[in-house]
Amino acid sequence: MENPAIRVDGLRQRYGDFEAVAGISFDVAAGELFALLGTNGAGKTTTLETLEGHRAVHGGTVRVLGHDPHRERRKVRPRMGIMLQDGGFFADLTVAETVDHWRGFTPAARGRDEAVGIAGLADRAGVRVRQLSGGQKRRLDLALALLGRPEVLFLDEPTSGMDPEARHATWKTVRDVVAGGTTVLLTTHYLEEAEHLADRLAILHRGRIETSGTVGEVVAGHGDRISFQVPGNLQVTELPELRGTRADISVDGGRAVASYTVNGAGLQAGLYELLRWADEERVRLDGLQARSASLEDVFLRTAAAEGATR
Ligand SMILES: Nc1ncnc2c1ncn2[C@@H]1O[C@H](COP(=O)(O)OP(=O)(O)O)[C@@H](O)[C@H]1O
Ligand SMILES: [Mg+2]
Repeated sequence: MENPAIRVDGLRQRYGDFEAVAGISFDVAAGELFALLGTNGAGKTTTLETLEGHRAVHGGTVRVLGHDPHRERRKVRPRMGIMLQDGGFFADLTVAETVDHWRGFTPAARGRDEAVGIAGLADRAGVRVRQLSGGQKRRLDLALALLGRPEVLFLDEPTSGMDPEARHATWKTVRDVVAGGTTVLLTTHYLEEAEHLADRLAILHRGRIETSGTVGEVVAGHGDRISFQVPGNLQVTELPELRGTRADISVDGGRAVASYTVNGAGLQAGLYELLRWADEERVRLDGLQARSASLEDVFLRTAAAEGATR
């Protein structure tokens, strides 16, 4: 990619002997929203903190807007917006006072009312921060990250602890920011969030990128599935092969269920083979299902691999 807003090339980070990030690479184009998806401990926050300039790299190279964010922090920091995983506030300040405090050292900051509006707290401007809910604090944190109209925005689990309404409001804010040309790198363990927002994503697992690309690219070839109840008058051996694969048989509620995993463009062709066979054999397929792989399938497989190796 030419002139990416964010470049990560072979990044390694360790805490003592423990390698939290084990050589990852990805680029984020200007104006793109890239999601780092991963379970707890995958290395998301460590990666973000490195890009924010809080940590020197142990290996590899990172660039934000063409600069080393750690060594050239003063050049890039004013162009970044940062929402940490745990934002710290002065609990005794009101919402409006908090915004004013931040405006005091943000060049060309948005106005107070605009920022409070972005946080969705227009009717709570006089309330002390300690009285806000967890989700409201997150939204205030996001509004503060946007105060200086950043070119690059880092969001670490921006919607954790939010109810669905606050989450959707936050997604809308983030989409508006991207529409305005800001580059966004966010971490999340919510699949729905990545599916909703991300132009591209990477699944991070124990410090390594397992897979990356658009949602379509990430799920492609991960096993579309066709299943149905084995008809009572048939032996399992009488079931057809679909796209050259045999059925896996499982038992669900006392009924044998046949399922086939077919890859890529095989779903349509496999379904066609099955329906033609059923028609010729005059077989009725109860409980017939055909579905494409989802991001959830890919993600759960990654998490299951983690459980198996720990
Ligand atoms: N300051 C630290 N000292 C030691 N280990 C740490 C430290 N911060 C994080 N880790 C470990 O590094 C790994 C990655 O952590 P983190 O980047 O926070 O992951 P994520 O944000 O994906 O949950 C985890 O195993 C975590 O326990
Ligand atoms: Mg984290």
